[in-house]
Amino acid sequence: MKRPRSSAKKGHSEDFFGDYRDFWWNESFLKLLARRLQLSQCHSLLDVGCGQCHWSKLLVNYLGAPEDEPTRVAGVDNDRKWAKGSPQLRAYFAEKEVAFELKKAEADNLPYEDATFDLVTCQTLLIHVSDPMAVIAEMKRVLRPGGTILCVEPNNLVQSLTRNSISSDDPIEQVLDHVKYALLFERGKKKLGQGDNSLGDLVPGMLAQAGFENIDVRLSDKAIAMYPPYDTPEQRATMRQWRHGDRWTSDGFSDYDYFKALGPDSLEFYETYVRQYAHLGERTERYIDANKYHSAGGAMMYVVSGVNE
Ligand SMILES: C[S@@+](CC[C@H](N)C(=O)[O-])C[C@H]1O[C@@H](n2cnc3c(N)ncnc32)[C@H](O)[C@@H]1O
Repeated sequence: MKRPRSSAKKGHSEDFFGDYRDFWWNESFLKLLARRLQLSQCHSLLDVGCGQCHWSKLLVNYLGAPEDEPTRVAGVDNDRKWAKGSPQLRAYFAEKEVAFELKKAEADNLPYEDATFDLVTCQTLLIHVSDPMAVIAEMKRVLRPGGTILCVEPNNLVQSLTRNSISSDDPIEQVLDHVKYALLFERGKKKLGQGDNSLGDLVPGMLAQAGFENIDVRLSDKAIAMYPPYDTPEQRATMRQWRHGDRWTSDGFSDYDYFKALGPDSLEFYETYVRQYAHLGERTERYIDANKYHSAGGAMMYVVSGVNE
């Protein structure tokens, strides 16, 4: 079997940056989170692994403004495309009179002095780095004493066990194949030094190990339920994501590479799996077209915060 084509020229995670990402949060949850974390006391924010700044674009609405200078938002990403930004992104922050800057840098070597920011945050970054503790230590370094770290990281494995109206009676062997695929995919990605896609489970312990205090662990309450006629804005965006989003690729790596990294048995499982379940995408499309697909759309996104005492 040939190595599937990958999207090497795209920015990191580009296939996952559609407007679908704008629906990742319930506003009422963010309001509550902002109150709990007293974000109005924070005047400067660093978004590490910012991508297109979907996360800081939301958080900025809850930050406070100091009297004599503008609120400050900085984004760092090691992908040149995201570190460059776009006129639309700059206009978004300019309209809010927020001082905004982007820098290209590695998350474990942030281009800022010690104790620079009130809030240092990341959303689905730690799951992509080989040494998350080194990144957390660096986030701590640039956080002022008393400042807040906020990490939003998932357990993605649970997705392989959520069901929908088509799959709910699938044979157990088939369900286990999907779980095994997800598990091997994650192990292979980790083996290649590209991070652990379910690292969210480990983030609270890592913050404790890094010396943070007052660690709070929450789960985002967002679920995007899909049911006919699939016509709410978030359902339409999710449908577009399913239809046009690529398989996961990163730096030119694809599922194939992750299975290959684990050895011949895993690669054989991959090749059999791809052949055996090739029809699943079409089956889902057919059910959607017939208005028979529905699912609660739950996910497991941890929201972990700590204070830099
Ligand atoms: C899944 S995306 C998340 C982007 C953004 N935080 C969001 O939630 O929309 C991961 C981002 O982390 C960046 N990234 C991955 N490894 C990095 C590293 N070692 N240093 C800096 N950025 C990194 C990628 O380029 C990508 O933009």
